[in-house]
Amino acid sequence: MKLNSELLETNAGVLLVATMLAISVGGLVEIAPLFLIKNTVEDIPGVRPYTPLESRGRDIYVREGCYTCHSQMIRPFRDEQLRYGHYSLAAESKYDHPFQWGSKRTGPDLARVGGKYSNEWHVQHLIQPTSVVPESVMPNYPWLSATPLDYSDVADRLRALRTVGVPYSASEAEYQANVKQFGPEVAETLRIDKAQENLVAQAQAGNFDGDRAFVSEADALIAYLQVLGTMVDFSKLKPEDLVKYR
Ligand code: HEC
Repeated sequence: MKLNSELLETNAGVLLVATMLAISVGGLVEIAPLFLIKNTVEDIPGVRPYTPLESRGRDIYVREGCYTCHSQMIRPFRDEQLRYGHYSLAAESKYDHPFQWGSKRTGPDLARVGGKYSNEWHVQHLIQPTSVVPESVMPNYPWLSATPLDYSDVADRLRALRTVGVPYSASEAEYQANVKQFGPEVAETLRIDKAQENLVAQAQAGNFDGDRAFVSEADALIAYLQVLGTMVDFSKLKPEDLVKYR
């Protein structure tokens, strides 16, 4: 019996067996190594969980469906890197549950929008995008800066994220582990027992919506937008490090 393509193409049974064999080998090669490594995503200096305020901002981003027009994933192509900056690293969304990579780009990718515009620009752009970008087709979100942010359940939200592996601290030991991993300043923002206090403090200090006395939904959303893509300092990474992190 000659094993050639004619044999496979004229014999449903043989084709089925050969197909299953090919899929099993391919599957094993892809899946088996994942069971042998401790982490599928490497730690990279700078990447930290969101603060309580940023985390609530992210909730609003999801609630308003911003992801239906915006991706958060810069692909490793020259045109994308020229437009948006360094391609996204897996580690940069390791604390995102669920991640916001997306694929729909009615608007630009937002993975590195942090720091690109002032807070004032964002306030104006959210109220009425065409007031700053006349040709924009983005909808108006005028209620965000007028609606008080509900942060009564922020500690519970952090607790929920903790159960899926985001290192918000619920005990002294976890806090100390965070001091070691992220430094004392960041560790302080990851304390579940101080979530509300930290949220209000960041909203007032950051003054994202232009009104320090009023903690609005825009405060949270803009705090989130301004941190996107800013955690990793790419000027400090050498090409040989990047091989590890991609
Ligand atoms: C119907 C599609 C659509 C939706 C929904 C949408 N946007 Fe946009 N967005 C756009 C388009 C188109 C642009 C480009 C024109 C502009 O700057 O307004 C844009 C631009 C932006 C920019 C500026 C990006 C840059 O690099 O210049 C930001 C920030 C932004 N959107 C945030 C948001 C947020 C936050 C939400 C959810 C509250 C949202 N968008 C919802 C379509 C959308």
